[in-house]
Amino acid sequence: MKAYGVVLIGCGSMGATHLDTLHAHPRVRLVGVVDLMAEKANRFADRYEAESWGTDYRCYLTRSDVDIVIIATYPSSHLVLTRECLAAGKHVLCEKPMAGSLQEAAEMVRLGSSSRSKLLIGHILRHNTTYQFVRDLIHSGAIGGPIVMRMSQIKNPAATWNSHLALLHEVSPIVDCGVHYVDVMRWFTGAEVLSVSGFGQRLDPDIPVGSYNYGMISLKLSDGSVGFYEAGWGHTMATDNLKEFVGPLGRIRITYQSHRATPELGNLVEVHYSDGRTEEINIPFEAKPTDLQFDYLLRMIEEQLDPKPMLRDFYRALEVTILGDRAIHEEKPIHCLDRLPEIVNF
Ligand SMILES: NC(=O)c1ccc[n+]([C@@H]2O[C@H](COP(=O)([O-])OP(=O)(O)OC[C@H]3O[C@@H](n4cnc5c(N)ncnc54)[C@H](O)[C@@H]3O)[C@@H](O)[C@H]2O)c1
Repeated sequence: MKAYGVVLIGCGSMGATHLDTLHAHPRVRLVGVVDLMAEKANRFADRYEAESWGTDYRCYLTRSDVDIVIIATYPSSHLVLTRECLAAGKHVLCEKPMAGSLQEAAEMVRLGSSSRSKLLIGHILRHNTTYQFVRDLIHSGAIGGPIVMRMSQIKNPAATWNSHLALLHEVSPIVDCGVHYVDVMRWFTGAEVLSVSGFGQRLDPDIPVGSYNYGMISLKLSDGSVGFYEAGWGHTMATDNLKEFVGPLGRIRITYQSHRATPELGNLVEVHYSDGRTEEINIPFEAKPTDLQFDYLLRMIEEQLDPKPMLRDFYRALEVTILGDRAIHEEKPIHCLDRLPEIVNF
């Protein structure tokens, strides 16, 4: 089996999450790690036994032993880096949100759809076996429909506050993590988002004026389902990871392994049916499945899988969260459906 030469750009917290699972992957040869800050790249090279490190990713693009570039930098740099990597014939795994603006995201979709090299965006929940299991349960009709989707991701990121602040200067928390959960709502229901509304609050003096570190968006979908996503990053926040899906025939709740008294059992999926039956399913889970996501990229390369359906879905998730952010700032609901033809034409 071919081992792929891999370079990571962005030696921060998500870069570490990628390398935690990939540095020992049997099909990975870690050729190099890159960061604008030399000290970070040097430290990552030691920690993950990379063959080299640098501050300029371009040095790696002319090398024939580099097959794949993982981009784990901030959204505003995703398009520039992806464009250069694809043009150099490298396959790319780029973190979400796919870009810093919708115009840039549209260009990402165009590049990923027309390039001979493959482009995968890091929507990790698509590769998470717990979310895949719940998606299958909902699709099987277990809780009926239409459904209500209740999703929160609230955290007190004291140790990584500076990196969260750097991200907040580019995107709101609603956009940054909301792309995962808007994608989940469309993936679980197979329905389209009709409208989005929301509110936000600036609760911390570190947050740029005019922005917010707590926000909520609520969505109406074309099958009659509804959902909310609530995001908060801040010193006064307590961790909350509510993930619940309620239908006329029952409800499903996911409890993450990290919130369980018995984390060794993995994630917990509880199903409560309207006839009184309950089920508890443990799904093995240790860490974010960046290895399964990487394996999917290898399948894209080796089986020539079409990148377009996922690229369109991730563009749409970004579009809805950006409209949600606008709904928060303009304090009014926004219809989302009228923009669809633009996407399906890609
Ligand atoms: N998929 C997920 O579950 C998940 C989770 C967290 C973060 N993310 C995403 O990962 C990305 C990075 O977030 P993070 O939390 O790791 O940030 P971070 O601040 O921890 O790390 C980013 C790193 O990139 C470096 N960098 C920035 N621009 C660069 C460039 N042009 N060239 C080289 N290095 C550059 C910075 O110096 C920094 O070390 C964001 O898009 C974020 O939304 C995804």
